[in-house]
Amino acid sequence: MLSAAQDERRSVGVASPAQYSERLGVTRLILTEFRNYRSARIDGPPELIVLTGPNGAGKTNLLEALSLLSPGRGLRNARLGELDRRDDSGADTNAGWAVAATVATRRGPVAIGTGRAPDGAGLHPAGVTRGERRLVRIDGEPAKGQAALAERLGVLWLTPAMDRLFVEGPGGRRRLMDRFVLGVDPAHAGRVARYEQALRERARLLRDRIDDPSWLGALEEIMAAEGIAVAAARRDAIEQLDRVCRDAGGAFPRARLRLIGAAEDWLRDMPALAAEERLRAALRDARGADALTGGAAVGPHRSDLAVVHADKGVAADIASTGEQKALLIAIMLAQAELQRRVRGEPPLLLLDEVAAHLDGVRRIALFSILAGRDAQAWITGTDAQLFAPLAGAARFLSVRDGTLSDTAI
Ligand SMILES: Nc1ncnc2c1ncn2[C@@H]1O[C@H](COP(=O)(O)OP(=O)(O)OP(=O)(O)O)[C@@H](O)[C@H]1O
Ligand SMILES: [Mg+2]
Repeated sequence: MLSAAQDERRSVGVASPAQYSERLGVTRLILTEFRNYRSARIDGPPELIVLTGPNGAGKTNLLEALSLLSPGRGLRNARLGELDRRDDSGADTNAGWAVAATVATRRGPVAIGTGRAPDGAGLHPAGVTRGERRLVRIDGEPAKGQAALAERLGVLWLTPAMDRLFVEGPGGRRRLMDRFVLGVDPAHAGRVARYEQALRERARLLRDRIDDPSWLGALEEIMAAEGIAVAAARRDAIEQLDRVCRDAGGAFPRARLRLIGAAEDWLRDMPALAAEERLRAALRDARGADALTGGAAVGPHRSDLAVVHADKGVAADIASTGEQKALLIAIMLAQAELQRRVRGEPPLLLLDEVAAHLDGVRRIALFSILAGRDAQAWITGTDAQLFAPLAGAARFLSVRDGTLSDTAI
């Protein structure tokens, strides 16, 4: 008789070497002075990677390093200096940090390097000495900004910190939504950044009672143009994602997604130029109130994403903990599929501790989806035995105190 593990193993199936050679993924990763990694290196074909180790070993840190191969502050939303390795006394070594990767893509291998220069190194052309700007190199050439990363590679992640995404405030859902939009439309990051900068600047003027109508008007002009572009890109991307979620089947629940926001609603009822005019007028009219609240009462920075568990017909926030996790995984897999269709290239998936929260059926279903994907996934957990069904279909790494080693299951 087969043991349960053997039985599960059969159901996952083993990816053939041919599949590996066509798979998109990281073929080399080098971390230097990053979090609890002094120096670490992984070379090999872009297999599915199972990373296990005890609490505090460095699993999430490694996924965080990989998440920095895309624009933004990575999966912990960390400031650059936080990523510097601290020594045992907790002191910042101020050595800067670096993540270097070679990634096999449809367009051939791409070398991505990113990091923070040590203080005073003066490496930055603008003469920034405290390395507060993330440096990015692509194929050895300095990139102007992080947006170049999104053009080369898609990266999606799921972490335990997102477990409360549906029950907490809209900020996390908005960030996730914008990451999804970025996955199908790399220019989105620039629009959001320009909108938010104008929003902050306007709030500062209003707070400091600098009543300069032409300055305020110019900022509101930027907010209207960029804000409506942000809303339009979100509408488009979320509609597409909703369709993929709706049509998905299998072990994970079907989700339905709906964008909630005034600017997004206007776009349903009027052309973009009229919506811009309306946002500009609304901002102008709200100056007095916004001066008191310190923000802006209207605009896409207030939008939200409503998620429904379609199989049960309930809002995601009242689904059970395990159901919410399964919904998030379903949405993430649908987004990965959408990116594959739109860009012709699937994203890397970073799944931090997802296996432990799933029931056996869903766990095996997830393993078999990941093993069969044409892009690499990295999956972590404390209990290596949980991943036994993936023996032969994944590379197993273990980590302890920031030191990686191959391990047998
Ligand atoms: N800047 C830093 N420098 C050195 N060590 C750090 C830094 N930031 C975090 N750490 C430490 O790195 C260790 C590993 O953290 P990480 O979150 O990767 O653990 P983990 O393996 O994911 O653990 P868990 O199973 O608890 O999630 C922790 O002990 C943490 O305190
Ligand atoms: Mg962790």
